[in-house]
Order: sequence, then structure tokens, then C-alpha cells
Amino acid sequence: MIILVTGGTGYIGSHTVVELIQAGHEVVIVDNLVNSKKSVLDKIKTITGIKPTFYEIDCTDKEALEPVFKAHPFDGVIHFAGLKAVGESVQKPLMYYHNNVLSTIYLSELAIKYKVDRFVFSSSATVYGDQEVPFVETMNLLPTTNPYGETKAMSERILKDAATVNQNFKVSLLRYFNPVGAHESGLIGESPNGIPNNLMPFVSKVAKGELEILSVFGNDYDTPDGTGVRDYIHVVDLAKGHVLAIEKLQDAIEIYNLGTGHGVSVLEIVSAFEKANAVKVPYKIVDRRPGDLPAYWADANKAYEKLGWKAKKTIFDMCKDSWHFEKNYKDE
Ligand code: NAD
Ligand code: WQD
Repeated sequence: MIILVTGGTGYIGSHTVVELIQAGHEVVIVDNLVNSKKSVLDKIKTITGIKPTFYEIDCTDKEALEPVFKAHPFDGVIHFAGLKAVGESVQKPLMYYHNNVLSTIYLSELAIKYKVDRFVFSSSATVYGDQEVPFVETMNLLPTTNPYGETKAMSERILKDAATVNQNFKVSLLRYFNPVGAHESGLIGESPNGIPNNLMPFVSKVAKGELEILSVFGNDYDTPDGTGVRDYIHVVDLAKGHVLAIEKLQDAIEIYNLGTGHGVSVLEIVSAFEKANAVKVPYKIVDRRPGDLPAYWADANKAYEKLGWKAKKTIFDMCKDSWHFEKNYKDE
């Protein structure tokens, strides 16, 4: 297939581009580089031998996007492009709604106009809100605690409505849990600008000595060790899930959780990281972070039953690969 990957120079997008190319697909990337670097294209070439066609375009610029659809006979779109910092979305809600929702509307309009009948969307476990765990795809979506989460829920609804009335426009909504880790080559991974918001990049920077100490946000939750529990998933497993989701897309609307099905605590991550990499990660317990849920993980059975997809990599792999990338990473 010929696949348009928006956000393809970003963290999850770049790993998915590698897996798509290795599965024999042709990839065209659109990204405005707001949170990634063009040098990722050379890294993709080093890993796969192929440098994908790249357009530096903002997905909220429909006029600039349309010629890309005219130039390539796409079979599918995988839409990763989006802003993802939860805290920033509270401070700048309109920027988040504009960027994340408008891009979804324009891309689906163009996909329908140019008869591109497969559309895979990056959603998030955050759309489940606060309800019983594990989260199952059949659950209703509950309000999230931030505009970022709302942009994901809105985009899901928009795509579902579009797929309901447009025959041949099929959507796959992929709800990611907590993606971590990096490609085993150490060439691509997550390199957030400034101080990371997420746990694994923060742990990596503490291990490297770039940050002094990890703040563990609360140890008084109702969890085995009192710290928050999440379903961490290796980004390469996640990327492989996208390849299967787009290849096997059949129904008008398909929804899958992409997680391991197991919860792991903050202190378990710290300890696994220290063991996997023979490093020290000093930490201190601080107050809970507002908006955090105590514990959630995926019911990951549906993706296995329908797509034959299962996360294979362990917490050890996630810690090892995150560290390998962090050690190699140079700000280019
Ligand atoms: P990322 O920031 O590394 O990648 C997103 C890419 O999109 C970046 O390269 C950025 O430059 C680009 N982009 C943003 N807005 C754009 C626009 N208007 N036009 C063109 N390009 C634009 O983030 P990621 O972690 O790879 O996330 C990819 C997708 O998955 C996002 O939609 C994110 O919300 C979603 N998601 C991420 C996580 C996570 O924890 N990383 C979890 C659930 C869902
Ligand atoms: C994980 C655990 C923290 C940092 C976020 C988004 C979610 C999704 C994935 C996009 C929690 C604890 C963290 C630190 C800590 N993104 N923690 N010290 O909050 O589960 O999910 O990213 O869709 O929408 O909300 O991920 O990595 O920030 O936190 O103790 O410095 O680590 O409290 O228990 P989160 P996270």
C-alpha cells in the first residue's frame, strides 16, 4: 500500500514508518516539525535503506495538504500529527482544539474526496476517563480532565460519524496506553524538548545526570506500593499494531486498545530501569500530580483476537531501549 503518515517524524510516527517500510509499504510523511526534526528521515534511511518522501506541511492548512493527495494515490492515512502535552493543553485549550481537531477534519475530508478508504487514528486511553479497570473498547467514553483528552474524544466521534455515512471510508481508532522505549538501533526514540512531563523520559534524564532527581507523584494511592500504575507499552510493539490495523481494516469502524494488559507502578519502573541498565535513579516522593488517575491498564484481548496483535516486549526491554537511545542521543 501507499500510506500517508502525518506526524511521521515524531516519536510513534517514526517507529511506525520503519515498520511499514519493513512490511513492504510505501510511505509519504507530512509533518510541520513543531515537535520533531527532519534528521529523523536520515535515521529511518539508516534503519530501512529507504528515505520516505517528506512534506513539511501543517495539517491544519488544507490548501497545502490537497496537492499531496493529488500527487500520490494513497491507499490509507495514519494520522499521528497532533499536540500531546496534557498540561499545555489546559493553558492553551484553543491551540489544542484547533490543531488536533481541525487536522482530523481536513484529513478525513481529503481522504474521502480522493477515495482513500483506510484511516487509522492515534487515540488515547485517556478517552476512557475515570472508570473501572481494565478499560475495554465497549465502554462509554467519559469526560477527560483536560482539553488534550477532549480533542481525542472529539476526533474519534468525527471519524465515526464520517465513516457511518461514507461507504468505503473505514476508520480504525487506536487507543494507546503509555508508549515508552525506542528502536533497538538507538537511532530513533523520544527526545522531548525541555524538562519531560512523562515518566520514562524523565527517568532516562535522571540516570544520565541531566536531571538531578525523579519526583514520584504520590505514594498513597490504593495500589500495591502506593504509586501510580500504568500500562507501559514498547513503541515498536505499538508501531507493529498500526501495520496490522491498516492492513486488516475491514469494518466501517474498528476500535482497539493497544496496551499489554498489565499495570506497572512508578517504583517498579524505577527499579526495572536500574536493574536493566546498571544505573542509579535517585527519587523522592512528592505530592500527587493533579488530574492523575491512580491506576489503569488495557483489556488487550480484542486486538489479539481480531488483528492477531500482542505486545511482546517486556518492561526490561522498554527500560533498556529507552536508555540505549538516551545515551546515544545528540541534539542535532
Ligand atoms: P510527537 O510529538 O513525537 O509526534 C507528533 C508529530 O506531529 C510531531 O512530529 C509534530 O511535529 C507533528 N505535528 C503536530 N501538529 C502538527 C500539525 N498541525 N501538522 C503537521 N504535523 C504536526 O508525539 P507522539 O508521542 O509520537 O504522538 C503521536 C500521536 O499519538 C499524537 O496524536 C498523540 O496525541 C498520540 N498519542 C500519544 C501518546 C504518547 O504517550 N506518546 C499516547 C496516546 C496518544
Ligand atoms: C505515568 C506515571 C505519574 C512523571 C500521559 C497522558 C496520556 C497519554 C500518555 C497521550 C503516573 C508518574 C510521571 C514524573 C511520576 N498521552 N510520574 N513522576 O500521565 O499516565 O499519561 O501520557 O495521550 O494522555 O496523560 O503518563 O508518563 O506522565 O505518568 O511519578 O516525573 O508516572 O504520576 O503515575 P500518564 P506519565
